[in-house]
Amino acid sequence: MGNIFAVTNQKGGVGKTTTAVNLAASLAESGKKVLLIDLDPQGNASTGCGVDKSAITTSSYDVIMAEAKAIDAIVRPEELSFDVMPTNTDLTAAEVQLLDVKLREHRLRIALESTREKYDFILIDCPPSLSMLTVNALVASKGVIIPIQCEYYALEGLSSLLKTIERVKQRANPALEVTGLIRTMFDARNNLANQVSRQLINHFEKKVFHSIIPRNVRLAESPSHGVPVISYDRTSRGSVAYMAMASEFMRREKNN
Ligand SMILES: Nc1ncnc2c1ncn2[C@@H]1O[C@H](COP(=O)(O)OP(=O)(O)OP(=O)(O)O)[C@@H](O)[C@H]1O
Ligand SMILES: [Mg+2]
Repeated sequence: MGNIFAVTNQKGGVGKTTTAVNLAASLAESGKKVLLIDLDPQGNASTGCGVDKSAITTSSYDVIMAEAKAIDAIVRPEELSFDVMPTNTDLTAAEVQLLDVKLREHRLRIALESTREKYDFILIDCPPSLSMLTVNALVASKGVIIPIQCEYYALEGLSSLLKTIERVKQRANPALEVTGLIRTMFDARNNLANQVSRQLINHFEKKVFHSIIPRNVRLAESPSHGVPVISYDRTSRGSVAYMAMASEFMRREKNN
């Protein structure tokens, strides 16, 4: 479990996928061996990494349902310097099918046992729900990275996410920790964003990454080219911000 991190927040559209893809790319840029797992049936991380979803033969769905080995579902998309375990909408069915299987919350953890040691870091992009898929990610992980968009409702869902993390920690994965909260799509000119940001720091203190991801159009554009922002426009503010986050993340992990 030592190197697996879930990127999660049940609130939709807060920058989970953007963070998962670009943190993976930035860690790879720093010479780390990285695997990005797409665990969201929407498959946004797969598309953002240039994987053609209609052409996927083996996906994270097959892995979580124990119908394929993790290694057989992993691809290295052209132009990328990290591996991807893609998905497609099949994964929607897993949610229901998992209800009937043994050790249903542990499927991903078990599936990754033999693959884990091949990577320095494995990042899991989670769906916007506290579903069985997200619980599988939490049970498999050492740490949780929580993207937060600093707006009025940002803190509301956070307490149920933290409760879920606490429950998983007590029941299934005592090692689980919140690695950090990352402020995304940040607009420093916005008073409310600054206010919410201060609240986050007051409440979560050191758990809040110093790095801040600004709102940056290059970050929004790069998925349509099927590459992380670092390959699309490496000098953009978005690219620089995710490189800074990756350095901070590695520093934190070294000290842990
Ligand atoms: N820092 C940013 N600057 C500009 N646009 C951004 C930024 N981060 C994310 N976006 C855009 O905001 C939208 C939502 O981001 P993203 O898909 O990463 O969120 P998500 O939390 O994964 O969403 P979902 O809950 O649907 O999985 C996307 O269109 C994305 O390109
Ligand atoms: Mg997403």
